[in-house]
Amino acid sequence: MKGLVLAGGLGTRLYPLTKITNKHLLPVYDRPMIFYPIQTLVNAGIKDIMIVTGGNNAGDFLRLFGNGSLFGLKHLNYTYQEKEGGIAEALGLAEHFAEGDRMVVILGDNIIEGNIIQAVGDFKAQKSGAKIMLKKVENPKDYGVAELKGKRIVNIIEKPKKPKSNYAVLGIYMYDNEVFDVIKTLKPSKRGELEITDVNNAYIKKGNLTYSILEGYWADAGASIDALLEANNFVAKNGANKISLKRKRR
Ligand code: G1P
Repeated sequence: MKGLVLAGGLGTRLYPLTKITNKHLLPVYDRPMIFYPIQTLVNAGIKDIMIVTGGNNAGDFLRLFGNGSLFGLKHLNYTYQEKEGGIAEALGLAEHFAEGDRMVVILGDNIIEGNIIQAVGDFKAQKSGAKIMLKKVENPKDYGVAELKGKRIVNIIEKPKKPKSNYAVLGIYMYDNEVFDVIKTLKPSKRGELEITDVNNAYIKKGNLTYSILEGYWADAGASIDALLEANNFVAKNGANKISLKRKRR
């Protein structure tokens, strides 16, 4: 199982904080935002990780992480997204890295309190297909939203005006290697991006998409200034899945 952290994009919703840096490098309490999703993958036992970034600050990720020893990793992989082509385009860049294997994909601004190890284990036991993670939220309009019939997801709508449920689709996705064929069939959405929601709907059509419900706190910390502030406050008060960092005292 390989891990992919998506950290591209312009971060326009957080402007001007993102005018001179990448959204995923902004602080969430005591460390850059992207530390949390990397730790989520490491906590789930995933050690072969690639970061997809883009824009003017791609080099900063290399300086920040090097080979990933901070996370107990032997090596970290990086790739560069040239255009602002969306989450599914960024995922498509990892085909070479995947080498036929399955992947857990996490968005660089998704912070969780708990662990996804159980969901990853369930996905390993799943013969093929994909698995997504859901969480009940109060503001489903801001996310991809799952329409459920009984226990089955029958459709996902990206940021719907009239949500069919309160279940948001989190930025944590698990795919078999067929995802790269699916991505090649996608057409850009109205906002000119290859949408991850279209990838997931393609798996629904194939009858091959399962889901897990995430327990505990979840933040899409890069969604807005308020979401960023809320994530900062939550992590400051309650912590999140993070490594302890050694800091020098003066
Ligand atoms: C993306 C996805 C959306 C998902 C969200 C979770 O939205 O498109 O389906 O619910 O991540 O973080 P974005 O925040 O990039 O607009």
